[in-house]
Amino acid sequence: MTPEFAAPNDDARPIWLVQKDLHDNLPPPMQTWVKVTGFAGKAGQICLLPKSDGSIGGALIGVEKPSDRPSRERFALAKAALALPEGAWKVENWPEGVDRAEAAFGWLLAQYAFGRYRKAEGAKARLVAPEGVDAARLLAMAEAEFLTRDLINTPANDMGPDALEAAARDMAAKHGFAVKVVTGEELLDQNFPLIHAVGRAAAQAPRLIELTRGDAGPHLVLVGKGVCFDTGGLDIKPASSMGLMKKDMGGAATVLGLAQMLAATGAADGMRLRVLIPAVENSISANAFRPGDILTSRKGLTVEINNTDAEGRLVLADALALAAEDKPDWLISMATLTGAARVALGPDVPPFYCDDDAAAAAISAASRANWDPLWRMPFWEPYEEMIEPGIADLDNAPSGGMAGSITAALFLRRFAEGAGHYAHFDIYGWQPKPAPGRTKGGVQQGARALLAALPGLLGK
Ligand code: BES
Ligand code: MN
Ligand code: ZN
Repeated sequence: MTPEFAAPNDDARPIWLVQKDLHDNLPPPMQTWVKVTGFAGKAGQICLLPKSDGSIGGALIGVEKPSDRPSRERFALAKAALALPEGAWKVENWPEGVDRAEAAFGWLLAQYAFGRYRKAEGAKARLVAPEGVDAARLLAMAEAEFLTRDLINTPANDMGPDALEAAARDMAAKHGFAVKVVTGEELLDQNFPLIHAVGRAAAQAPRLIELTRGDAGPHLVLVGKGVCFDTGGLDIKPASSMGLMKKDMGGAATVLGLAQMLAATGAADGMRLRVLIPAVENSISANAFRPGDILTSRKGLTVEINNTDAEGRLVLADALALAAEDKPDWLISMATLTGAARVALGPDVPPFYCDDDAAAAAISAASRANWDPLWRMPFWEPYEEMIEPGIADLDNAPSGGMAGSITAALFLRRFAEGAGHYAHFDIYGWQPKPAPGRTKGGVQQGARALLAALPGLLGK
């Protein structure tokens, strides 16, 4: 499914945006109509307007008043778009403080539906791209969001390491990336012992997928957790926790979406972009890795396995170590890494970690400007001791479970040393219930903020 705007069209039906008690910007008959019908103008609320022949002539749509606080109704127009009939629509008035790009992007998001296993349809109404927005960029953003969602929504029986590799190859072919994949026993020959250990018990071989594009300019590496299904391993998850674990490749799906956007918008031109996805299934078999095992990572640091369910940081460790060997300017990891991040911040606002205050501020600003919530958390140095068990260099699952998202981030940072800058995103990748612009299911988090922030961070 490809998101689209309506072609500029004289027959597009008019939309008037209505803010509660702020009607001066409406044509006088509309002001009267709002008044006599008592249209409340709640965000996303619609009121259809008839033509004199009884056909649908236009619509009023409620939007929030401008506010400095985080909006409670992100993508209000997405909600309205779903309720409007098929055809072209055009916004006639843009009240002050309404973000045209957000409105247009929300409308594009409403077109998404996951129809792989049964017929499903998103909004059929199409918006004429508002004047002054970068329509091509918004389309690239929506298309990448759809890719991420499709990958997450596809269940593990159809999105194992083989299929994730195929999806990466497909994106690579469309957007000019070269691909290299190290699979199975080759992982041991090429020194990726942790990726191998986590993935070797599964039916489909573990692998490290690598996409590269460009060979000069600032060097950016994106690493995404590609655990296609997380049973927990021998420390098996209870059914209630395992149910959603098809989404444990959400980090991989998100960096693929981000890489696609960087390429499609031209931001990747003039840079060295590398995407690394350790793709595995954390499964159970006679050759599964065990609690108590001590594994030597690519970097040489030894890791005591205190919980086979803390597998994400293990596969990421070897990928981060590989990336850091080349001393990239920026290294970024995205992963559905911890339940603790959800406990702290819930499903909507993923934490990110970055030691550089100015860069973190730029990421936070880009997050707000691109309707992509994120919240900074600290690489809290004093907790380093929690990941040091004594019997090995590192512990993959500190007992007690305090500060679980932070200790996971600290673990990863040990392997990212050598990169100019490092940022880590502990995403959820899942929309638990339908919301404007977001169907229930896979969702992209953090990628739009990075798309906007990265060129500046890389000095482009
Ligand atoms: N994939 C999970 C984390 C997760 C769980 C993300 C639920 C989103 C929703 C990860 O592999 C995991 O199991 N982490 C454990 C780590 C613990 C054993 C130290 C966790 O968070 O419970
Ligand atoms: Mn796990
Ligand atoms: Zn996991």
